[in-house]
Amino acid sequence: MPFQSIAHRGASALAPENTLASFEKAIELGFDYIELDVRLSKDKQLVVIHDADVQRTTDGEGQIEYFTVKDLKKLDAGSWFSPAFAGEKIPLLNEVLTRYSGKIGIIIEMKSPENHPGMTEILADTLKWFKSSSQIKVQSFHVNELKKFHQLAPKIPAGLLLSKPLDLFHLASYRDFASFLSVHHLLLSKSFINQAELFGYEIYSWTISKQYQFADMQRLGVQGIISDDEKRLPDSIMYVLITPFLKGQDFLKTLLA
Ligand code: G3P
Ligand code: CA
Repeated sequence: MPFQSIAHRGASALAPENTLASFEKAIELGFDYIELDVRLSKDKQLVVIHDADVQRTTDGEGQIEYFTVKDLKKLDAGSWFSPAFAGEKIPLLNEVLTRYSGKIGIIIEMKSPENHPGMTEILADTLKWFKSSSQIKVQSFHVNELKKFHQLAPKIPAGLLLSKPLDLFHLASYRDFASFLSVHHLLLSKSFINQAELFGYEIYSWTISKQYQFADMQRLGVQGIISDDEKRLPDSIMYVLITPFLKGQDFLKTLLA
């Protein structure tokens, strides 16, 4: 079966993660989805960034929650990756939705929603206009906040991120609000996938960066592969790794249409 190809933080091996440049690159490469992370700014807007602070991926310092959007927008979110991306900005979730919904699927990860009161409600409110068919999904490691999100926005597919194994009892009880599981690839086995599929979950694996791992995941029969690369490779090598899989997926999808 074909899998959905999901670009982890955008095409983050080729452009600075979680920026418009990395999302554009993911579209250019032919990914089905982008995955991105959201956090809340001081003025309660959803901003697209992975870490709790801005040090690693911008030229600034400090926690996201102490920055207004106006101040976050002054930061350079591209130069740390390469001078070619100087001036790239931290995007707002609203900017990404406006620009890309309908063009590529979007998987939004709520980062630490339990520590940011209001995040789940603001996200549900932002997405309430989208239909389940618009290929927007939400995922989180946090069970209770994901449950709350599902209650507030039942049309948007919600997925639980897993970095630990899940027993049958939990698989059964989480199905009330989660329709997919994003699972660390080292936790995946055929028996786990069979059990999860009995409950009707889709399974996505993260984070796949090597060619043999794509093949392993395809053999296991996951429905989605969240991928990037463990180190920066020259463009040409990255294309060699990813392109055959994306082309193969397109071919399979045409056959099955
Ligand atoms: O989608 C899975 C993955 O994004 C979870 O890890 O740290 O990259 O957000 P992280
Ligand atoms: Ca993520």
